[in-house]
Amino acid sequence: MDVMILTGAGQIGMAIARRMGYGKKIVIGDKKTENAQAISKIMNDAGFDTVPMEMDLSSRESIKNLISEAQKYGDIKMLVNAAGVSPSQAPIEAILKVDLYGTAVLLEEVGKVIAKGGTGVTISSQSGHRMPALSPEADEQLAVTPAEDLLKLDILQPENIKDTLHAYQMAKRCNEKRVMAESVKWGERGARINSISPGIIVTPLAIDEFNGPRGDFYKNMFAKCPAGRPGTADEVANVAELLMSEKGAFITGADFLIDGGATASYFYGPLKPEV
Ligand SMILES: NC(=O)c1ccc[n+]([C@@H]2O[C@H](COP(=O)([O-])OP(=O)(O)OC[C@H]3O[C@@H](n4cnc5c(N)ncnc54)[C@H](O)[C@@H]3O)[C@@H](O)[C@H]2O)c1
Repeated sequence: MDVMILTGAGQIGMAIARRMGYGKKIVIGDKKTENAQAISKIMNDAGFDTVPMEMDLSSRESIKNLISEAQKYGDIKMLVNAAGVSPSQAPIEAILKVDLYGTAVLLEEVGKVIAKGGTGVTISSQSGHRMPALSPEADEQLAVTPAEDLLKLDILQPENIKDTLHAYQMAKRCNEKRVMAESVKWGERGARINSISPGIIVTPLAIDEFNGPRGDFYKNMFAKCPAGRPGTADEVANVAELLMSEKGAFITGADFLIDGGATASYFYGPLKPEV
């Protein structure tokens, strides 16, 4: 049986799993077991074949455990990584450990076992696009530093990270760079990996942001972006469907921005910060 691993039992993860996971065993890992169980029930009630598991993206051991459980059902054909914490939900260290380090380890470990013809997506963020360019050296460090050494990089030390938003932006920039580097290895196995960078998508995570210290900033962002509204998880699944299906066979190591034009407006429109 073909297996899909879904990490992060949130709205974005579930929308992608529902779009691409039919006919597969879907192993759902989340740090909050109750989230994995809730989504597993919704999906099983809708005809999917899922099993919930506790897993912590910030732990290599936990990731390896999830993978070996998944392998009991068959070959791992798909990976959907939608686990993460946002700038209002966690301190700097947790954001770096989960979103940056954890994603790097997951892509590496699944990349060792992904089946021929397999595909994966990891959810990055528009935040990584809004941050100014890093030096070519910093980009390369984020792309290829062994995962266990990533959090020792100078650019990620506390004195160089301004706040939780900056930590999140670095994590998401790193996700995109890791996807590029990993796509080379996944390609050797006949598999593809891409990332999706959503803008504001209404989910519990985004609602935490609306109610958090940057709430007005976020509400202004979707009101003034070209689309004039936040997005939905099902729209992110539209992109995932392209990337994970045969139609996306020539797409790998790429990142797709789906943000209603918020990034464009941030650089060249009404969302441009005043200097
Ligand atoms: N919602 C948005 O506006 C938005 C925008 C850009 C990017 N994203 C990214 O999309 C991804 C999914 O977010 P969502 O909006 O669906 O959020 P969500 O809160 O609905 O889901 C995230 C899930 O990740 C789980 N999680 C958190 N830490 C974990 C850990 N250490 N190990 C395992 N699971 C863990 C949470 O328990 C939760 O179930 C995140 O990476 C987020 O950064 C979201």
